[in-house]
Amino acid sequence: MRHSSTTPLSLDFANCLSQRVGSHGLSADSLATAAPMLADLTKRLNQTKNTGWERWRGLPFDPVRSEHLKAVKKLARALRARTDNLIVLGIGGSALGNIALQSALNPTTYNLLPRKLRGGPRLFVLDNVDPEFVGNTLDEVARSDPKFKRTIINVVSKSGETAETAAQFIIARNMLKKKLGKNYADHIVAVTDPAKGTMRSICDAEGYATLPVPEGVGGRFSVLSPVGLFSAAMCGIKIDALLDGAAEMDERCSNPDAMKNPAAVLAFLLMELARRGKVNHVMMPYCNALYLLADWFRQLWAESLGKRHDKNGKEVFAGATPIKALGTTDQHSQVQLYREGPNDKVFGFVEVESFDRDVKIPTGFKVENLKYLQGSTLGSLLAAEKRATEFAFVESQRPNFTISFPKLNAHGVGQFIQLWEIVTAYAGLMLNIDAYDQPAVETGKVATFGLMGRSGYEQWKRKVEKALAPTKWKI
Ligand code: PA5
Repeated sequence: MRHSSTTPLSLDFANCLSQRVGSHGLSADSLATAAPMLADLTKRLNQTKNTGWERWRGLPFDPVRSEHLKAVKKLARALRARTDNLIVLGIGGSALGNIALQSALNPTTYNLLPRKLRGGPRLFVLDNVDPEFVGNTLDEVARSDPKFKRTIINVVSKSGETAETAAQFIIARNMLKKKLGKNYADHIVAVTDPAKGTMRSICDAEGYATLPVPEGVGGRFSVLSPVGLFSAAMCGIKIDALLDGAAEMDERCSNPDAMKNPAAVLAFLLMELARRGKVNHVMMPYCNALYLLADWFRQLWAESLGKRHDKNGKEVFAGATPIKALGTTDQHSQVQLYREGPNDKVFGFVEVESFDRDVKIPTGFKVENLKYLQGSTLGSLLAAEKRATEFAFVESQRPNFTISFPKLNAHGVGQFIQLWEIVTAYAGLMLNIDAYDQPAVETGKVATFGLMGRSGYEQWKRKVEKALAPTKWKI
């Protein structure tokens, strides 16, 4: 488990300005000119926060915060000692946050550690229906716990209708029933809509322990609700610190003075640069633990901002493509393209100023060309490589910014999550689109229902078969 500290994240955006990257950057004046517009947007967001689909803003604050913490901790306390395997079933906003928290805040080797060192259960998040992925994971759990006595299934689905999660749930429930008989329901924790939906009806009928996906909190904004908090608490993550960090960032991002408000600045930079052709937004952590947080960001940015119509119904095809990369790994894979390919990207580096541990590179290896590394540490090498890449990007006029975590801990991750959610809200206003719907994912869902034989969706099967009828264009 990572240490707590409460130092704020910092944002350095000098490399997005024209003084560093010439005509590919923004002038400092443009920021000053935008200040009143940003102040106005902040005022609007401060008015709409905690209302409608912006109720995610209230998750780190009372009364919702205390209600959630109390319920999540109570359940985690009751289950943790008797659980060796926690299997989360969910997809999209019902899984990416859980994965991100676990990978950011527990060691990469967490599942491999002996129980004593782990503290909590092993965590498996099944966010796909790849049969080998699901089958092999369930086999592994069955190998370690043949009767599933020390296994909990945490199904996360606001609707209960998502085909992937529903299919996994039917499989898992069946398995639990076979192994545990009438006690199977004690091994299921459902995070779902508190009042309605298919999963709610199942829970009510079968008597599972439940936690709420709160009203007015969409999937991709739900990680700081029981959706993400339950599996995090089970695995020993400091969920109070996570919410403290989010609350502190929320305060910073409520400041009408844009130069003190990192969300307003980031949204302005990214949307203004996108308007000028930088329509790809790369998030590049120099930290393996944060790599999957970039996956969480990809969903937030893509589903929220990728919209065909604006709020007036005008066709706008808004959005910017989120891309994830990892430093230093992708220096040896993507950076050639990033520096010499189309100048259509903004790069967001994410760094950790001080890692909880470092690894020393020993001295005494008498190879002249490798002497410069000896006596240094992997942490220093990583930091130097990040700085060198930042310099290289500036040299080729590629706008970039850096978000720095003083330490990698729950408080910082909470700040980071709230920051990007608020940036998304600003960006939605700037683009005049609805950041909270996802109409384009519907077609794939209903076509799947049709192909899988769901009654009422037959016409979708016919449409798919017609549109994708075999042709001669296959070799
Ligand atoms: O962000 C979203 O709204 C989606 O990614 C959903 O979280 C995802 O489709 C899963 O939906 P549900 O929780 O209803 O199963």
